[in-house]
Amino acid sequence: MTTVNVYIPPTPASSYEIIIDDGLINHPQKWLPKNLSFHHLVIITDHTVKKYYLNPLVEALNKLGHYPLTLSFPAGEKHKHQATKQILEEKILRKHFGRDTLCIALGGGVVGDLAGFIAATYMRGIPYIQIPTTLLAMVDSSVGGKTAIDTPQGKNLIGAFWQPKVVVADIDCLKTLPEEHLISGIVEALKMFLTNDIDSFHYLQKNMSAIFQQNKRILKTLVQRAVTIKAQVVAADETEKNLRMILNFGHTIGHALEKLTQYKLPHGYAVAYGILLECSISRELGYLGEQHYAQIENALNQLGFHVDYLKKLNITNIIRATKSDKKASEGNARYILLKQPGEVHHENGMVAHAVDEQVVRAAFRRL
Ligand code: NAD
Ligand code: GLY
Repeated sequence: MTTVNVYIPPTPASSYEIIIDDGLINHPQKWLPKNLSFHHLVIITDHTVKKYYLNPLVEALNKLGHYPLTLSFPAGEKHKHQATKQILEEKILRKHFGRDTLCIALGGGVVGDLAGFIAATYMRGIPYIQIPTTLLAMVDSSVGGKTAIDTPQGKNLIGAFWQPKVVVADIDCLKTLPEEHLISGIVEALKMFLTNDIDSFHYLQKNMSAIFQQNKRILKTLVQRAVTIKAQVVAADETEKNLRMILNFGHTIGHALEKLTQYKLPHGYAVAYGILLECSISRELGYLGEQHYAQIENALNQLGFHVDYLKKLNITNIIRATKSDKKASEGNARYILLKQPGEVHHENGMVAHAVDEQVVRAAFRRL
């Protein structure tokens, strides 16, 4: 008998830069990696982002001698699915673009996830660049290489880990972002800070109104603080075996709320309410002190999220909806629990924990 071993080396997150500044879209020479050779360039965006940012980007690339194929699809989560992926891929294939193609994802998390997944699978993988245009995408989704599409069975169920070559966060894009989406991004940054960095939590609280006033210096610092955390977490656990799950803080309940509202509640809002209830669970278990709970509740109140919204919901339905969460193990929902702002609860080295249903009910009553 002959056996042949195939050795697949470990695949750590490949290193790349996250560049944060204003005016970056107009200056691709500042971020196009010099060591990346490509013959074809495709930009994928959505119809809304296209209106604002596609032309300036294309014009700036033209000046450097690059003439990209530009593709767009209707904006919104409901288009992050297989049919859109197929339509876009066929358009690239019809141009006979090969492996020497560079893809640019220009948009929010929907564009980033979808275009990233196209890059991960086109010709078995081509390089791509993330240009996030929402705050959520700048602080979270553009970094870390999670790419995916949704299916009727749930969100992000088909995808790949595929790291971008560079992430380009042009703060100027946030000027056109509707407030609802700015809030969603702030909530994802808050999530990052509550699990990792108490100083940044205080920084966010102190600068909330400056963020809403689009203070560029504060926005840049906010993004820089958030992606520094995200980069550390991803470097330690690229494929989410354990530590990376902390980035799902607030999401066990958050995803359940999205499902129960048929995705009418925006993702960031659902996560905000998720953080409230999950902090109440941490308090109920004795991990999070009353004072710390009040501090976090206060930060969410500043953003317009109050427990009254949760109190009107049916906890039995929420618990049922948590059981299909991706972190669930053997049908039991798992939670990221806090010890204090900036620190999660660890047990046996693990960050995600099953919580008894009665505890969730008690935490809900205590809201
Ligand atoms: P999105 O991409 O749908 O953007 C929200 C809306 O804002 C869209 O209508 C978009 O057209 C519009 N928009 C984008 N940039 C704009 C700008 N600068 N000015 C005006 N309008 C603009 O949604 P999102 O909130 O950015 O991202 C949510 C998605 O991200 C979800 O699909 C979620 O699953 C995914 N996500 C992925 C990760 C990851 O690690 N890959 C992490 C978090 C979230
Ligand atoms: N946004 C969760 C993650 O990137 O793991």
